Amino acid sequence: MSSTTGSPILETVNLRKSYFMGKVEVPALRGVDIKVEEGEFVSLMGPSGSGKTTLLNMVGMLDVPTSGTVRITGIDTSLLSDVEKSEFRLEKLGFIFQFFNLFMELTAMENVILPMMLQGKGKEEYLRKGEELLKVVGLGERMSHYPSELSGGQQQRVTIARALANEPALLLADEPTANLDSQTSIEIVDLFGRINKKEGKTIFMVTHEEELGRRADRIIRLRDGLVVG
Ligand SMILES: Nc1ncnc2c1ncn2[C@@H]1O[C@H](COP(=O)(O)OP(=O)(O)OP(=O)(O)O)[C@@H](O)[C@H]1O
Ligand SMILES: [Mg+2]
Repeated sequence: MSSTTGSPILETVNLRKSYFMGKVEVPALRGVDIKVEEGEFVSLMGPSGSGKTTLLNMVGMLDVPTSGTVRITGIDTSLLSDVEKSEFRLEKLGFIFQFFNLFMELTAMENVILPMMLQGKGKEEYLRKGEELLKVVGLGERMSHYPSELSGGQQQRVTIARALANEPALLLADEPTANLDSQTSIEIVDLFGRINKKEGKTIFMVTHEEELGRRADRIIRLRDGLVVG
């Protein structure tokens, strides 16, 4: 699975997704064309129901499109088998969701190193990397805390460190600040900005808060399942 050089990290072509409620078709994406280049920090904005989560789920291969193409690092994801999709997700993508999805019985450090253990990395490597990543997100002093011993913003920082653990080509975040107060939200989005600038990570972030979306390099706006503006 080598990447095609020169192609965008993420590209969708005429992407469509309909849900069916019995016989009633609910079109969520109605032909979406987007491109995200390597090293970009892009926010995806739009009103509730405009298709943001649906688009992110197609990009993250958590669900299959009705038609159209999703290419990540030049690879047409529809050509991958289920096993290849799982491998691709583990190797190329980092996910950050609205709910922190941390294992409550594991420490911050253990949550971060878990994906590296799953990838079969050596102990010395994952411990070193885990420490490095928790420092990147400002939690160097909280490594052995359990999620219940961390604030909401700190918990989200752990998920960001965890998402970076496999050195993903693309970080996907769906409303990562929805459960945080406005000051903490700004801190988290600024952390994305630093990770983007310093580590050169490509970030695709859903938000419906204008003030947060504007902190990205570029905004893609969805309305009724189509890109607007
Ligand atoms: N599993 C589903 N079954 C049926 N319809 C769905 C399903 N998921 C989403 N939809 C519909 O698809 C459309 C897009 O939903 P989506 O969740 O992508 O919106 P969104 O932009 O993420 O909204 P929000 O800002 O509220 O999170 C909506 O009209 C929604 O009702
Ligand atoms: Mg959503």
